[in-house]
Amino acid sequence: MKTAHRALALAAALLAPAVQAQSTLLQHPGRLLASGCFQCHGTNGVNGSFDALAGDSRQDMLDKLNDMRRKRLRDNIMYPHASGYTSEQLWQIADYFSKLPKP
Ligand code: HEC
Repeated sequence: MKTAHRALALAAALLAPAVQAQSTLLQHPGRLLASGCFQCHGTNGVNGSFDALAGDSRQDMLDKLNDMRRKRLRDNIMYPHASGYTSEQLWQIADYFSKLPKP
């Protein structure tokens, strides 16, 4: 019984930082903005069919998003999504996805 308690306490201690990191992410200002991307890129930034964004480099995502809106590729599905946010909002979204665990 004592061993079981110790094992449980150890498990809780090991899990605490992960749980804390997740709840911090739930309050990330980019999360609500990024919800517009969940449909295609997945709620955790991972989806079987479209590009996974979770854990990608923030700068890399920002470069791609800026490229998409600058080039005005109207036939690309990402054009309206990349163009619908201010630069500050895109930074928040890219920061949020970059902090999610990579698949
Ligand atoms: C309707 C579906 C859809 C939505 C919504 C959507 N995307 Fe995309 N996204 C795509 C598709 C499809 C591609 C691949 C486009 C291509 O390669 O031309 C893509 C590509 C990307 C890429 C490039 C990934 C890579 O590795 O090259 C990034 C970054 C990205 N999307 C971010 C976002 C963000 C941020 C949002 C929300 C603001 C968003 N997307 C919303 C469908 C979507």
